[in-house]
Amino acid sequence: MSYLVAANWKMNKTNAQTVEYLQIFKKLYREPLPNVEVMVAPPFTSLSTASIQLRDSLIKLGAQNMHFEEKGAFTGEISPYMLKELNVEYVILGHSERRHIFGEKDEVINKKVLSAIKHGIRPILCVGETLEERELGKTLNVIERQVRSGIAGLDKDVFLVDIAYEPVWAIGTGINATPDQAQEVHQFIRELLKSISKESDNGCRILYGGSVNENNAKELIKEKDVEGFLVGTASIDPERFYKIITHCLEA
Ligand code: PGA
Repeated sequence: MSYLVAANWKMNKTNAQTVEYLQIFKKLYREPLPNVEVMVAPPFTSLSTASIQLRDSLIKLGAQNMHFEEKGAFTGEISPYMLKELNVEYVILGHSERRHIFGEKDEVINKKVLSAIKHGIRPILCVGETLEERELGKTLNVIERQVRSGIAGLDKDVFLVDIAYEPVWAIGTGINATPDQAQEVHQFIRELLKSISKESDNGCRILYGGSVNENNAKELIKEKDVEGFLVGTASIDPERFYKIITHCLEA
């Protein structure tokens, strides 16, 4: 199974900046890397530009969110149908900023996961505990609830999803989970997936996210169940992002 290293640009970069970034990044990432798949998720306004830029490249295109319906009266929303036309292959769903700032609940996230799969877009389902939940010893309960509800209804098709463990306290704070903390939760998710799918969870990667950078990626990726990264801040700079990718090569 290959690692997945994904860039979540969040609300950063105009169209012109997207072109600038991807031209630099394509020069860095020219040769296929064994065992590493790379995805970039720009904001919606840059998806069309990025789609053209990434044509015939090794880099996969991702979206940061989507609505679960194909079309209709949903002002301000973007559908899987629209994403497919732009060759979007991945969609980040249930990101903690969507959950905590925009109030997305487990049931809606689950509808999005099922819809993405139906439309042939691979979801990256994000899960993670707050600092308060960690301090109360509730981390694994929260993760279990978010994973179970996020993939409800998939049964043996669990392998069609990737999961990103992103502790809320580590996102954008500069404080990453230690390799041990990440491994503990990743292993828990791995076991949980096995027990849910009964058949096999092969193909379902568990990524770590939360202040990943070119300095800490090397140690984190050595953990057995860390199978890639979802990178925010450090992915905004093509050189820093590429460096993180190269650490996965060395693992
Ligand atoms: P960060 O963001 O790397 O800036 O912590 C990660 C994410 O939110 O996906």
